[in-house]
Amino acid sequence: MELGEAVKKRRSIHEYEPKLVEEDVLKNIFRTAAWAPTHRMKEPWNVHLYQEKGKERYAEAVLDSYERQGFFQGYDEEKSRQLKKGIGDFLLQIPHHALIYMPKDEDERKFEEDYAAVCAYVQNVQLLAWEAGVGVLWTTSPYLHDPEFAKGVGLDPSFYKLVSVLQIGYPKRIPKAKQRTDIGDKMKVIRT
Ligand SMILES: Cc1cc2nc3c(=O)[nH]c(=O)nc-3n(C[C@H](O)[C@H](O)[C@H](O)COP(=O)(O)O)c2cc1C
Repeated sequence: MELGEAVKKRRSIHEYEPKLVEEDVLKNIFRTAAWAPTHRMKEPWNVHLYQEKGKERYAEAVLDSYERQGFFQGYDEEKSRQLKKGIGDFLLQIPHHALIYMPKDEDERKFEEDYAAVCAYVQNVQLLAWEAGVGVLWTTSPYLHDPEFAKGVGLDPSFYKLVSVLQIGYPKRIPKAKQRTDIGDKMKVIRT
């Protein structure tokens, strides 16, 4: 696939076929993505890939976080049980969840460099996945900022920043493209 085509045609995927992506395909995507730019060669990206039974631990940590954040408050017990089940089932039917995280640098400038490198890594993952016929949704939900969620998935929140969770699977439906603003409206060429 030509690069420009992958960049333009890639879409965020919300619905997946109920089957796993082959492990060698996924490993190749995550391995090749590591050619992202990385200042000081820190390669700050790390991945927890949840799939099969492993998704249960992740879904439980998400639900616990929603609970702590009061998401289920104001509902009676039955309604709140239904809401939890709905969210749990939704998460479990997604074939893979990749939690992307990085070590926190105390120096703000270096932290920003690392965060930028991890975002470049994530976009590489998205494009490589697209080329392989695999769909991804880049998500940044509130639980990524919940220290107890980090602990729940075995990560010390004082050491690690949770950057995103990528939902991954073969696309069941590819949404229509949302138009982009012409760059002429956002870019000035300064010649003198
Ligand atoms: C940092 C970041 C966080 C995002 N978080 C979410 C999210 O939590 N949920 C979601 O549905 N989409 C999320 N998206 C995907 C955007 O909504 C999506 O890229 C946008 O609607 C354009 O659609 P496209 O990717 O198909 O071109 C996120 C994208 C980025 C870059």
